[in-house]
Amino acid sequence: MSAIYKIIDKKKLDIVKRPISKAHGLPNECYTSKDYTLIEREKIFENKWTVMLVNKKGNIRNVIRCPYHSWSYTSDGKLIATPHIGGMNQHSSPKFKKDKNNLKEIRSYVWLDLIFINISNNEIPFEKYIKPLSDRWAKFWKKKDRKLINHANDFGYFKINAKCNWKFAIENYCESYHLPWVHPGLNSYSKIEDHYHIQGLPNRFAGQGTVVYNPKFKGKKKFPCFPNWPKEKENIAEYVALFPNVMLGIHKDHFYAYWLEPISHKKTLEHMVIYYVGKKASKSKDFKSLRKQNHKLWEDIQKEDVGIIQRMQLGRNSHAYNGGNFSPDMDNPTHQFHKWVATHIV
Ligand SMILES: [Fe+2]
Repeated sequence: MSAIYKIIDKKKLDIVKRPISKAHGLPNECYTSKDYTLIEREKIFENKWTVMLVNKKGNIRNVIRCPYHSWSYTSDGKLIATPHIGGMNQHSSPKFKKDKNNLKEIRSYVWLDLIFINISNNEIPFEKYIKPLSDRWAKFWKKKDRKLINHANDFGYFKINAKCNWKFAIENYCESYHLPWVHPGLNSYSKIEDHYHIQGLPNRFAGQGTVVYNPKFKGKKKFPCFPNWPKEKENIAEYVALFPNVMLGIHKDHFYAYWLEPISHKKTLEHMVIYYVGKKASKSKDFKSLRKQNHKLWEDIQKEDVGIIQRMQLGRNSHAYNGGNFSPDMDNPTHQFHKWVATHIV
């Protein structure tokens, strides 16, 4: 018997996988149980391609040095220095074999500026994993245009401490059903009818697009656009989640990655990293005001989302809650994510 069924009744997970009109969302335990979270860590985070980022940007010069006791490793993980390991000024010990204590290699892949890892080394190669989305977005940015993506020098990053489970952020991101009520400030952008579900991708992706993207900033200046973005698609922007933990946004004039660092079953660090087209747009003073405005726009939107999903976390404490009912027409991407979790957690 799968370990998960000791924590969650099998029937509750099976209901998630029914056709959308008869399905319920993931059961409460997936949001409130520490034991569930331990299983999720392995089945969802170690077994899949997930995004991590580093503590601080930097280049490795000579060695990788642990800040705790200064043990040092070569860039390919060989342990080469163990200060005072055998007592004061004795930097080696016959009782300790350096070559048996090298760093463990983790499968990784850098895509755009994002570091993906697959700890269990069991997933399909990353190139294959990302290919369906890469092919879909080839109509917006040619391979050479992708090289123009530059991380913004300033106003290119923010993080939010969300007092809720990481899954709420993904399911909220996949759908546009909430826009008019949660984001009333978006005005004309928030009309549900201007959004569409992303279809035709494998079930590890879900998301939505808009047909009315039209950035309006103070002043006459505009960000440069991807050079080969088709004219007839300039008002299209797409928002796609790569399960489990990263959400991407592609627009004619900027790109972002919004990725999740789960801290516990009810705490998540959300990281937003914003990129522009070319060095000038991302680094020069000329575009600073625009970068600031765009940063504020996204931070305000994400804070509105976090406000509502934190309330959903509280709702998950109710024993009367059945996991939630889906709109058969509006909630397909969210249902797809719940089904994906319900399938891979077993
Ligand atoms: Fe939202």
